[in-house]
Amino acid sequence: MASAGDISDLPEANEAPLVIDVQFIEEEEEPFSQPLEAADEISTARPRSPMDLPHSLPTPNGRARVVTVINQKGGVGKTTTVINIAAQLALRGHRVLVVDSDSQGNCATGLGVDKSRVRNTTRDLMLSPETAVDSRHATAIENVHIIVGDRSLIGLEQEMMRQLGRERRMSEALEPLLSHYDIVLIDTPPSLGLVSINSLVASDGIIIPVQTEYFALEGLALLAGTIREVRSLLNERIGVDGVLLTMHAQTLLNKQVAGEILESFPDLVVSPPIRRNVRLAEAPSHGVPIHLHDPSSAGGKDYQEITTVLERRWGLSR
Ligand SMILES: Nc1ncnc2c1ncn2[C@@H]1O[C@H](COP(=O)(O)OP(=O)(O)OP(=O)(O)O)[C@@H](O)[C@H]1O
Ligand SMILES: [Mg+2]
Repeated sequence: MASAGDISDLPEANEAPLVIDVQFIEEEEEPFSQPLEAADEISTARPRSPMDLPHSLPTPNGRARVVTVINQKGGVGKTTTVINIAAQLALRGHRVLVVDSDSQGNCATGLGVDKSRVRNTTRDLMLSPETAVDSRHATAIENVHIIVGDRSLIGLEQEMMRQLGRERRMSEALEPLLSHYDIVLIDTPPSLGLVSINSLVASDGIIIPVQTEYFALEGLALLAGTIREVRSLLNERIGVDGVLLTMHAQTLLNKQVAGEILESFPDLVVSPPIRRNVRLAEAPSHGVPIHLHDPSSAGGKDYQEITTVLERRWGLSR
């Protein structure tokens, strides 16, 4: 390290060099056949802050595993992941509760629930944890129940700012439900505010969907910092169950970013990457998960395989 001194002692600063992490060259789309492995030409750029993602612990006996699906970056596939993993697990006989803590409320739509007909929502659960049992709704999928998020969540964080124990509301609310389910999946908004913190405090594990695009790793560094803080101050058990690569295509950029993520978290990345697939994007408009819309599509197959890996990690395989 250079010793401190007068700035005039320093040689003149270089003109800011361009940092080129990856090449923005599209490749011809080709069938997605190779297993995921670090791309051949991985850039030498490294994240600037340490990205230590802690591993999770097994679920305590006799109760549901609680898993938060989180990434403060918007549109990376959090909700699509919650809906389709929930549906896949239910299809395999597991009892699933989805908790939508996002005011966009897309989990309800994607699971065929009409939000306008719902009385209690995630907002009620956060303000009055004892309402959780009565806030669950059936969905279009047998064995999947939902606590609906909706616009009423907007402004909630401000309202809760002065409440004692505000980070533990979700945890308190879910406690009486845990012995009745095998898994609780929490969808989060694209932010790291109080509602997301509540979800992390209530959880055993974390799933991080990451779009294999530029800036993916920078976003992960911020999230890793939040996870570390939650672990040291509020929930020492929490850890990461998996990093999912989403909306993946066979472009050079996508492959290089996937390679970097894989290098950074070799044991946490869940393979295969989820391919960019229009059938996944269409399914919510029909109010069904991909396994009812088009199970043999690329997206349908990828979510099936991902669920098999996670089922094993979560100790749910029979
Ligand atoms: N693998 C995929 N291929 C194509 N489209 C996808 C895929 N995954 C998700 N989408 C679509 O991309 C959009 C964003 O996905 P999604 O809503 O799941 O992201 P999100 O992270 O929950 O977003 P937000 O941060 O706004 O909550 C949606 O229109 C969704 O249907
Ligand atoms: Mg979402």
